Amino acid sequence: MKVAIASDHAGLGMKEEIVGFLKEKGMDVLDYGVDNPESVDYPDYGIKVARAVSKGIVERGILSCGTGIGMSIVANKFPNVRAALCNDMFTARMSRLHNDANILVLGGRTLEKDVALLMVDAWLKTGFEGGRHQRRLDKIKELEKGIFNNKEGEQLCQT
Ligand code: RB5
Repeated sequence: MKVAIASDHAGLGMKEEIVGFLKEKGMDVLDYGVDNPESVDYPDYGIKVARAVSKGIVERGILSCGTGIGMSIVANKFPNVRAALCNDMFTARMSRLHNDANILVLGGRTLEKDVALLMVDAWLKTGFEGGRHQRRLDKIKELEKGIFNNKEGEQLCQT
């Protein structure tokens, strides 16, 4: 599985831990930065991962900023993206089982690194339950079609 990852300065430490963890597991990681602690704007980095997931370049993405809030707001602007801001093992697992989340968002300033790595592991291994949850995702897909059926929506999805 190919995973794209990015953070802002506040999520950098978290991102580095996760990249190391994924590489140790032999995963194919596409790291979109940042690579230094200089202050940046989280949308500039969240967009890179959201676009890669939106276009099917990667199957999954992971984003981190201070709280995870900004990155999740950005990522969920993109069609086909289901970004989940998770704070514990329960929400990480449920985001896969019920929401088929394809981007995991973690707060660099809100989560302990060891818990975050356990969450990443569980999130990557957990499947989608389908059934009634698929019906709900289909409704979100219909909503997206309405929103993105215009020029601005198209532009957002271009590289
Ligand atoms: C940066 O200070 C902080 O605002 C950002 O990382 C994030 O938490 C925004 O949601």
